[in-house]
Amino acid sequence: MSGHGPATPMTARKSGPLKGTADVPGDKSISHRSLILGALTVGETKISGLLEGQDVLDTAKAMRAFGADVIEHGGGDWTVHGVGVGGFSEPEDVIDCGNSGTGVRLIMGTMATTPITATFTGDASLRKRPMGRITDPLALFGTQAVGREGGRLPMTLVGAADPVPVTYTLPMASAQVKSAVLLAGLNAPGQTVVIEKEPTRDHTERMLAGFGAEITVEDTDEGRVITLTGRPELKPQTIAVPRDPSSAAFPVCAALIVEGSDVLVPNIGLNPTRAGLYTTLKEMGADLTFENEREEGGEPVADLRARFSPNMKGIEVPPERAPSMIDEYPILSVVAAFAEGRTVMKGVKELRVKESDRIDAMARGLEACGVAIEEDEDTLIVTGMGPGGVPGGATAEARLDHRIAMSFLCCGMASEKPVSVDDSGPIATSFPIFEPLMTTLGAQLVRSNR
Ligand code: S3P
Repeated sequence: MSGHGPATPMTARKSGPLKGTADVPGDKSISHRSLILGALTVGETKISGLLEGQDVLDTAKAMRAFGADVIEHGGGDWTVHGVGVGGFSEPEDVIDCGNSGTGVRLIMGTMATTPITATFTGDASLRKRPMGRITDPLALFGTQAVGREGGRLPMTLVGAADPVPVTYTLPMASAQVKSAVLLAGLNAPGQTVVIEKEPTRDHTERMLAGFGAEITVEDTDEGRVITLTGRPELKPQTIAVPRDPSSAAFPVCAALIVEGSDVLVPNIGLNPTRAGLYTTLKEMGADLTFENEREEGGEPVADLRARFSPNMKGIEVPPERAPSMIDEYPILSVVAAFAEGRTVMKGVKELRVKESDRIDAMARGLEACGVAIEEDEDTLIVTGMGPGGVPGGATAEARLDHRIAMSFLCCGMASEKPVSVDDSGPIATSFPIFEPLMTTLGAQLVRSNR
């Protein structure tokens, strides 16, 4: 069974000021896609700045199991010698994607139209997450799937021997589902079409185009219509992975709530399908500036500068913004606890099927820290207590969820009393250098088992 070993409790005490430069790791979404698309080319794809978090390492291992040659050179430099579209061979053993929904769903899509059989599993968090959202559209290509009750892992997929192209309208705003369908469409003849009513992160579309696939995106009255022509010959690429705006959110938000802070977070990818948090923070009155704005590899990039912001106000976050900040609601709810007034987050039910039920995890943890919370299936409302106003003095459950663990540690850096998490281990999935990076800025983090 997959897991990360014994729990590592960690405590954050009132800290600061946080000062200095925070070099956050590479983008998780782009890192997974670089390895997977590299595996679908013939030739050598060179990747620099790859996130070497456990989620991405599990995807690298999976690509090797399907026949690609994936080599680590150190310092985020990797090469992939791929097997070409439709070239995956049958893995000899179960594919263990650890904690990663992105990894398992994108890889399932990629193998779904190749006539091989593979069995997938993951850790206790991933084994609870719904896979029917992937296997339903994959069945339209001719892929068979058998899993546990409720469409859960472990699950075996039998790839379609004679796949047909598919037109699919996404029933939920999910880049993982969109990407699984597009990746399956790569080895189907003809045109695969995905329609999304709300735009979600578009890295798969951008990168498929970069690797030489024929792909068009049209904005229509029904939504974004993405059309991919199957069976392309993908060309190896040289990829510089931008730094992750979802990881940048932690030092940025910690600086906004910790008195006297002034932190620079350089070279952050600000693709509009990912940058919703930063718009929201500005609306709340955060002292956040975008410096040195530029374009790199076709993506907007900037250096973020965040300073302590004692005058932040609660706002209503527009529900249509949710897909562009879906991973940032946990840390936003911490910032909201240190603002004045209510922050209303509606249209967030997708948070219930992430690495944990993030509405419940944040609600219970913040309540334990003395913050008033209201929630329903699709809504989270935090009543702010003003700068320095959160009592803290609690232990929050991380629930095998990296973003929940990091959010409560940031909360503890600004609360009156310390805040602990029962397990900081999951942080290694996306932000393995979180502890040394935050400590260098001035955060007081202590592992209880030292
Ligand atoms: C991701 C898509 C999102 C996000 C996840 C990464 C991706 O999931 O939460 O962290 O890389 O495609 P959903 O597609 O389930 O919204």
